[in-house]
Amino acid sequence: MEKLRIGIMGAGQESVHSHFPNCLKNSDIAEIVAVCDVNIENARRAAAQFQVPAFYAGHTEMLEKEKPDLVTICVPNKFHEQLTVDALRAGCHVLCEKPPALTADQARHMEEEAKKAGKILTYNLHYRYAPEVQAVKQMIQAGEFGTLYTGRVQAVRRRGIPGWGNFTNKDMQGGGSLIDIGVHMLDTALYLLDYPRPLYAAANSSDRIGRRGGVGLMGSWDPGKFTVEDGLFGYIQFEGGISLQVETAFALNCKEKQRMNVEIYGDQAGASVFDGEIYAEKNGRLVDMRLPFVQEVDRRNISISSYIRCCAGGKEPLITARQGVILMSIVEALYRSAAEGRVVEI
Ligand SMILES: NC(=O)c1ccc[n+]([C@@H]2O[C@H](COP(=O)([O-])OP(=O)(O)OC[C@H]3O[C@@H](n4cnc5c(N)ncnc54)[C@H](O)[C@@H]3O)[C@@H](O)[C@H]2O)c1
Repeated sequence: MEKLRIGIMGAGQESVHSHFPNCLKNSDIAEIVAVCDVNIENARRAAAQFQVPAFYAGHTEMLEKEKPDLVTICVPNKFHEQLTVDALRAGCHVLCEKPPALTADQARHMEEEAKKAGKILTYNLHYRYAPEVQAVKQMIQAGEFGTLYTGRVQAVRRRGIPGWGNFTNKDMQGGGSLIDIGVHMLDTALYLLDYPRPLYAAANSSDRIGRRGGVGLMGSWDPGKFTVEDGLFGYIQFEGGISLQVETAFALNCKEKQRMNVEIYGDQAGASVFDGEIYAEKNGRLVDMRLPFVQEVDRRNISISSYIRCCAGGKEPLITARQGVILMSIVEALYRSAAEGRVVEI
């Protein structure tokens, strides 16, 4: 079998840290044939570092000349839709970074184009591959949690406003803590709940700390250019009597430096997922269970590698384009609710 030809779009931080090395780990079935970046110097540097034979400034030129089978997209959120659609129309499978897009409509468009092209579209929501998440998912599937009906999503930092990149720029990223780090935990909770149908959302957001400035634990940022929320706190109601509380913050006067976690509760058991703790009732007693010796895994590698293998085998990926639409419809509703100060139907 010929190797899959991979083109990488975007050669910034995450791409160099994750996309290149993780694609290269699949050299038995795939090869990186080209990279493109509007900043040609970034493309040139990455090509030299990872011994990629071709580099381009424009993604359409790369698609036309190199005819990749698969592209990975790692550019600011604003460009996810355009690059994904262009790549799908050029006949490529696409792994796009999270969040899927800026809006649900964009994610829907991306899903439709993938269907039309008959290609596999996925998003790099790699927290699903954490061993704690997979263990809890297996227990849920085995019926050990009973009926799930509520949970809590936390992606909260004390002072973790990124001091680099576009993360505080609403035009480029679409928002702050919710769309950047919140989507990872929200997706994890939705995955554990089997992606129930959302009905409505309510939220409150703040940009007080971001716009005022102050201590930074992830570099320093310019309060004058801070246009996103530094925190969003909300509630989502789903079909079937399921609800989720959402807490996301780049900056919050809370105890911990950072907390990324999902709590999930059923009538037979509950879990604090990333703590690896399960709470249940057995034989007339309340019991706590722990997942000891959980081995750290490289979630990014598992996510990218399993996607490449799905493309090679024509299989559906764990993270689907449909789920990307639902995720973005919730994100959009939370933002709209916070902006308009009312409950928003989804
Ligand atoms: N999965 C994760 O955990 C994770 C972690 C960090 C970032 N990300 C995502 O990765 C994406 C990129 O983030 P980053 O931190 O690497 O940003 P970055 O600013 O470091 O890099 C972005 C790169 O994209 C290039 N670029 C911009 N527009 C382009 C276009 N139209 N075509 C080609 N290249 C273009 C820029 O020149 C830059 O080199 C974002 O969507 C972000 O949310 C995901």
